Amino acid sequence: MTKQAANLRSARWFAPDDLRSSGHRSRMMQMGYDEKDWGKKPIIAILNTWSDLNACHAHFKDRVEHVKRGVLQAGGFPVELPVQSLSESALKPTSMLYRNFLAMETEELLRAHPIDGAVLMGGCDKTTPALVMGAISAGFPMIFLPAGPMLRGNYKGEWLGSGSDAWKYWDERRAGTISEEQWTGVEEGIARSYGHCMTFGTASTMTAIAEALGLTLPGASSIPAADVNHIRMSTRCGRRIVEMVWDELTPDKIITADAVHNATTVAMATGCSTNAVVHLLSMARRAGVPLTLDDLDKAGRTTPVVANIRPTGDKYLMEDFYYAGGLRALMSEIKDLLKLDAMTVSGFPLGETLKGAEVYNSDVIRPLSNPIYHEGSLAVLKGNLAPDGCVMKPSACEPRLRVHEGPALVFDSYPEMKAMIDREDLDVTADHVLILRNAGPKGGPGMPEWGMLPIPKKILKQGYRDMLRISDARMSGTSYGACILHVAPEAHIGGPLSLVRTGDIIRVDLPNRSIDMLVDEETLASRRAEWVAPADKYERGYGWMFSKHIKQANEGCDFDFLERQFGATAGEPDIF
Ligand code: FES
Repeated sequence: MTKQAANLRSARWFAPDDLRSSGHRSRMMQMGYDEKDWGKKPIIAILNTWSDLNACHAHFKDRVEHVKRGVLQAGGFPVELPVQSLSESALKPTSMLYRNFLAMETEELLRAHPIDGAVLMGGCDKTTPALVMGAISAGFPMIFLPAGPMLRGNYKGEWLGSGSDAWKYWDERRAGTISEEQWTGVEEGIARSYGHCMTFGTASTMTAIAEALGLTLPGASSIPAADVNHIRMSTRCGRRIVEMVWDELTPDKIITADAVHNATTVAMATGCSTNAVVHLLSMARRAGVPLTLDDLDKAGRTTPVVANIRPTGDKYLMEDFYYAGGLRALMSEIKDLLKLDAMTVSGFPLGETLKGAEVYNSDVIRPLSNPIYHEGSLAVLKGNLAPDGCVMKPSACEPRLRVHEGPALVFDSYPEMKAMIDREDLDVTADHVLILRNAGPKGGPGMPEWGMLPIPKKILKQGYRDMLRISDARMSGTSYGACILHVAPEAHIGGPLSLVRTGDIIRVDLPNRSIDMLVDEETLASRRAEWVAPADKYERGYGWMFSKHIKQANEGCDFDFLERQFGATAGEPDIF
């Protein structure tokens, strides 16, 4: 124990013999506490992202009590602070619009209250990066408590995967190959317990990244939400954060360039969601690590995918991943690619936390000598269509589309695409390249997950299940297919995507990482001169602020005024 009780941050609220502190003390007494509860004990904020509309976090109402038990056991004073819930399945137009809102709320809530350390309860997609971004900027000890994946889906004995099987069976329904009754069975069986999506979609990706950054207890991210081990892990989080406060184990000692390297490597090895890109960039930059898209592409070229989990794999789900040994086993399998000296919230370097980890099923967690995909999960393409880059998930697309040339079919908005895509008279072939634009960070706004454009019904009926698709939007981490996303700069601010016309030939060469429209420069210049900037959609409120300050996808979509200048220190200004 290195920190003295008198130096606790919360002592600034409760220790002084002045009128303001008297007010703080008497109002705590108003809630039944007394001086035994504060003063010499670290006050631990438990940031709870529970809500009645967030099925992924339905157990957080109970788990918060398990965390409190641990805090009390270790001699701390737990306080629950509710924050926005960001339910992926309930929010419109997209939860990404609110990621930075939760990050701001986290930072300001922690900074403004008498808090010494924080447990961050998250898991549903954007909650993980949002809580982590805010807590990094607040700068005091924190530990991330992952919600855990839900149980496998089940329909008539067949396993169902979150998102992935919804997309799959929806296409079959549109193609007329399954009945209404079968569709209802899928709807009822695909989400059977609390917990986040149980494919390696965005939620599992981001909690794995949090663990690889060193922000969770070892192995925490793989524990299914409904497993009793999740309760024990929650209580241990409560005990550990109290020790972290005394040890002054702050995020800057954990989220270093080495930790970001580990997070990036693990993301690639797990077949991560494309959404990992914007979140990794923004979290790393908050911590002062200048990660770029080129770094991610390099990691993608050198890290094989060893987690055989859907949607990259074709069978197993997160429950299987846990039974196979979970993330500790996976990291142990790829330990030669990791920086094992990186510190973790456990108080031990990563290498120590991996000791004794074993793979129990080498088909689920593959050895490096037998990966399910020889390169990493993501590739970054550049060219005259995306000078600042765009992202593709090669492991999830049909091989015939890795090098492809075809005519563009352009949609200017999501409603236009939705109205047109299933028309029998749509002029489209399987070789067309579907383009949806004006759906980026400012244009969406918030980059909705519209990037996995539906395959037109007439193409589905011809037996095709994949086409090349390009957008400045994102796609769900549970999606799959030849989708090229996050095109930067986006169309809404006049990026080259705004200049494409239906019928232009698009060429994509994945091995050479290029994406181009085969249109001469003179033609492009005349289209650029004719281009008129669309109006922002929000005229007031948070949406207005978002549109004014959001950065582009290749920079992580943080707000310009929240980004940390590299080299500047994190942490709080003096609070009196
Ligand atoms: Fe919450 Fe997928 S809807 S993680």
